Amino acid sequence: MTEGIERWKGKTALVTGASSGIGLAIVRALARIGVRLVLTARRAERLEALKSELEAHGVEVLAVSADLRRTDAIDSLFRTVRNQWGGIDVLINNAGLGWRELLETVDFTHLQSMMDVNIRAATICIREALKDMQGKQDAAIINISSLAGHRVPPGIGGTFYSASKHALKAIADGLRQELVAENSPIKLGTISPGMVETEFQTVAAPGGNYAGYEYPPLRAEDVADAVLYMLSAPRNVQIADILMRPLSQPH
Ligand SMILES: NC(=O)c1ccc[n+]([C@@H]2O[C@H](COP(=O)([O-])OP(=O)(O)OC[C@H]3O[C@@H](n4cnc5c(N)ncnc54)[C@H](OP(=O)(O)O)[C@@H]3O)[C@@H](O)[C@H]2O)c1
Repeated sequence: MTEGIERWKGKTALVTGASSGIGLAIVRALARIGVRLVLTARRAERLEALKSELEAHGVEVLAVSADLRRTDAIDSLFRTVRNQWGGIDVLINNAGLGWRELLETVDFTHLQSMMDVNIRAATICIREALKDMQGKQDAAIINISSLAGHRVPPGIGGTFYSASKHALKAIADGLRQELVAENSPIKLGTISPGMVETEFQTVAAPGGNYAGYEYPPLRAEDVADAVLYMLSAPRNVQIADILMRPLSQPH
């Protein structure tokens, strides 16, 4: 861990999708460097268990259960954090899902929930985070995208998940232009992992015939390390994109 990470100690980070997988690993990694944490996801009991685990180690934690498909739930989340801690310094836009759908039979209720979480909620969280980050020297927005945000994954069914992650890339590229135009010190990064061992394939990516990993996947902790690497860069350095895949992932 480089010295630059120290300046995030005592800052407040919101991690969406903190109940599982990559979000959970990012929470634990940020907790280790002394970041104050806001956890959100739908499964309240998991958030409460994580909160207890972290508080036992002296970490300050706020757990706010929210369904990110609902605008009022996101508004209420940011209101709660502002009331308690005055807002956030770091946003980790991680919550996501990946309905597998064919164009021939596409079900728009499935697509809607995926776009609502992967694009709409991520966008609202960015908008609200920017309000909190006004005037701060150390602030960061990190989106957890996917290699599917850079190409349509091989094998059918991933088209719309891929479209949602391509959209996230477009949003980040556009936001970068806005931030640069304002001389903003806010760091903006996107991490795009290949296959990671989490609940994603079995829970968050319904509609497929999942038959196990074809090669040893990344660990969620590998992605959390990439988050720390992004944050640890000096103030004048923008680690804008990290693409990472398991050693044996061919595409
Ligand atoms: N695993 C992979 O191979 C892989 C690869 C590349 C990118 N990613 C990306 O990594 C991110 C995290 O995925 P993961 O692999 O860690 O999967 P995961 O273990 O299934 O975690 C998904 C998280 O998103 C939350 N979430 C889903 N729908 C939500 C909603 N409506 N409201 C609030 N929270 C919601 C879930 O919480 P609740 O269910 O408790 O609400 C959960 O915490 C996603 O954006 C995914 O696209 C994953």
